[in-house]
Amino acid sequence: MVGYGAGITGVGSFLPKKVMTNSDLEKIVDTSNEWIIERTGIKERRIAEDDMATSDLSAIAAQRAMENAGIVPEDIDLILVATITPDHLFPSTACMVQKHIGAINAAAFDINAGCTGFIYALTTAKAFIKSGIYRKILVIGSEALSKIVNWKDRNTCVLFGDGAGACIVEPCEEGFGMIAEELGSDGRKGDVLIVPAGGTRKPTSLETVEEGLNFIEMDGREVFKFAVRIMGKSSKSVLKKANLKTEDIDLLIPHQANIRIIDSALKKLNLSKEKVFVNLDKYGNMSAASIPVALDEALKVKKLKKGDNLLLVAFGAGLTWGSIVLKWNKED
Ligand code: UT7
Repeated sequence: MVGYGAGITGVGSFLPKKVMTNSDLEKIVDTSNEWIIERTGIKERRIAEDDMATSDLSAIAAQRAMENAGIVPEDIDLILVATITPDHLFPSTACMVQKHIGAINAAAFDINAGCTGFIYALTTAKAFIKSGIYRKILVIGSEALSKIVNWKDRNTCVLFGDGAGACIVEPCEEGFGMIAEELGSDGRKGDVLIVPAGGTRKPTSLETVEEGLNFIEMDGREVFKFAVRIMGKSSKSVLKKANLKTEDIDLLIPHQANIRIIDSALKKLNLSKEKVFVNLDKYGNMSAASIPVALDEALKVKKLKKGDNLLLVAFGAGLTWGSIVLKWNKED
């Protein structure tokens, strides 16, 4: 193939069965269903079983994506898992997924870019495809956030949920697939969204556990301000790279963190509500899993057809951000 693109040829997702509603949370922390809905838009979220780790959620989503693409595990050249909730510090969750699905011919590694992880992973997959190194890449965004949430902290525990989404990325017709991308980070803001202990900076000890430092800590207002600014900015910049205007977008799938952040991004972009896909009411913020799960659901309700322009945009811990424009390459 002389000129070719890199596109998504299969999508799948998995959500744990267990539902935790806002009323369930009212029994755990000092919060209310009204507050959570008004300030975030979230009504409920899914919680992984005790014996399910991120790679278990990932493997089911991956099986579904492979089926959707019509490929078998042995076909896969590379597995990329975007996650901030790995099974272990090491080995990588991608290697665990490889074991679960039997993708014996694949290389495998994780990508940690906070909630922007899936955008980073898709961009990495494109680079491997366009360079000719690999032809079939499994890209997963997967999180078991309920395992690192501080269930005593109302500032964070109401926001997050568990789930996994997966895509198969392969060479596609030139001019289709991922046509522009933009990634960014600002490491100076690392402290605003962090798990302080459990790494080499502050290894886990009796004290870190007692002080709750092995759980998510967040300065919500700082992240909110950053998110509102960067969603519009990054979207505009990637559209410019793609040589497209806002009105050319057929569907926007933003990171699903807070409906107020999404609404302000829509305003900045001057985009109508009908063009955005939102499912955060059902799942909360699933970090790197948010976008691929939403993509799978959007496809199931026929929101995309071949030739449509799809914009993905995310922000997250790091702080990081990223966006991708795709000309949808897949037939129904
Ligand atoms: O994927 C990236 C991850 N993070 C995010 O995207 C989060 C971005 N930030 C946000 O979405 C919002 O900042 C939050 C939803 C986290 C908070 O909403 P907010 O409108 O920024 O609230 P706030 O932090 O300004 O707090 C307002 C009040 C405070 O009380 P006082 O100080 O005014 O008395 C909080 O203590 O709301 C209180 N509050 C709550 N009340 C009931 C905070 N959390 C809760 C809660 N239930 N769960």
